[in-house]
Amino acid sequence: MQPSIIPTRIQSMAAAFLAREQMNFKGQVAVVTGGATGIGRAIALKLADKGAAVMIADINEEAAEATAAEVHEISGNSAIFLTDVTDAAACDGLAAATFDSLGAVDILVNNAGIAGSSGWQSRSFSTEEDWKRTYQVNVIGMANVTLAFKPQMTRRRSGRIVNLASIAGREGRPSLPHYSASKAAVISLTQSTALELARFNITVNAICPGLLWTPMWEQVGRRYANDIPAYKGMNAREVFDTMIADRIPMKKEQTPEDVADTLAFLVSDDAKNITGQALNVDGGFFMR
Ligand SMILES: NC(=O)c1ccc[n+]([C@@H]2O[C@H](COP(=O)([O-])OP(=O)(O)OC[C@H]3O[C@@H](n4cnc5c(N)ncnc54)[C@H](O)[C@@H]3O)[C@@H](O)[C@H]2O)c1
Repeated sequence: MQPSIIPTRIQSMAAAFLAREQMNFKGQVAVVTGGATGIGRAIALKLADKGAAVMIADINEEAAEATAAEVHEISGNSAIFLTDVTDAAACDGLAAATFDSLGAVDILVNNAGIAGSSGWQSRSFSTEEDWKRTYQVNVIGMANVTLAFKPQMTRRRSGRIVNLASIAGREGRPSLPHYSASKAAVISLTQSTALELARFNITVNAICPGLLWTPMWEQVGRRYANDIPAYKGMNAREVFDTMIADRIPMKKEQTPEDVADTLAFLVSDDAKNITGQALNVDGGFFMR
C-alpha cells in the first residue's frame, strides 16, 4: 500500500462519516407537536441539525415562530401550523399543511403535553377538570395527531413515530395522579400503535424523560412542596435537587437535549428494529 494514499482515504472516510452523522435526516420531514418550547424545541433543533425540515405544531404562536426561525437558520426549511391537538379537525389541517408545505412526513413527534387544567399548580388535589383536560391533551391529542398522519405514513410504508411519555407513567406517584395515569396511557397507546403500524414498516416508540428543570417542573415542585410531607417548606428547586440526590443514581438532572439525543437515535436507521418500547432517559431513576 502506498503511504501517500492512506491520508486521502482516511480523509474521505472521515468526511463520509461526518456527513452521515451530521446530515442523516437530510431530505426528511419531521413534525413536532408542542415544538415551540422546552423539550419539543430541543427536538426540533436537533432534527434540523441533522438536516430535517421541521413543522412546528403548537398553540403558542409567538414561541412557535421563534423556534421555526431557529430551525430555518439551521436546516433552511421549517414551517409552523397553529394546532390545538385536542381538535381532530385542526390535526387533519396540520397533516394537509405539512404535506403541502414540506412534503410527506417521515418523523412524527407527539410531544405536546400538560400537567393539569388551569390552576393545577396551586391545588393540592386533582379536580375532574384536571383529569379531563390532561387526558384530552396528553392522550386523545396524541391519538388525534397520529390518526391524522396515518394515511400519509402507511401509504409510503415507512416512518417513525415517537411519543413523549414520562417516568411518571412508570408507577403511581404521590401527587398529580391524573398526570401519571395519562402518561401510563401514553406508554400503552405507544404499544398498541406499534402493533398496528408494524406491517407498514413504521416504528412507534416512547421516551420517558426523568427530572428536567423546565417551567413545567418548577410548577410540579411547587405542588410537591404543598402536597408531600417530605418536601414541606422547600422551594421548587430544593424539591428538585432533593429528588435528584435521593432518587437518581447518576446524581444529575436531565436536559431537553438529553431527550432530543435519544429521539435522534430512535428515528434513525440504526433503530429500525426497535418498536413498541418506552425508553427511560432518567439517570437510572427507573430501571425497567
Ligand atoms: N419537563 C419535564 O420534566 C418532563 C418530564 C417528563 C415528561 N415530560 C413531557 O415532555 C413533553 C414536553 O414537556 P415540556 O417540559 O417541554 O413542557 P412545555 O410546557 O415547556 O412545552 C409543552 C408545549 O406543548 C404546547 N401545548 C400545550 N398544549 C397544547 C395543545 N393542546 N396543542 C398543541 N400544543 C400544546 C405548549 O404550548 C408548549 O409549547 C410533555 O409531554 C411532558 O409531559 C416533561
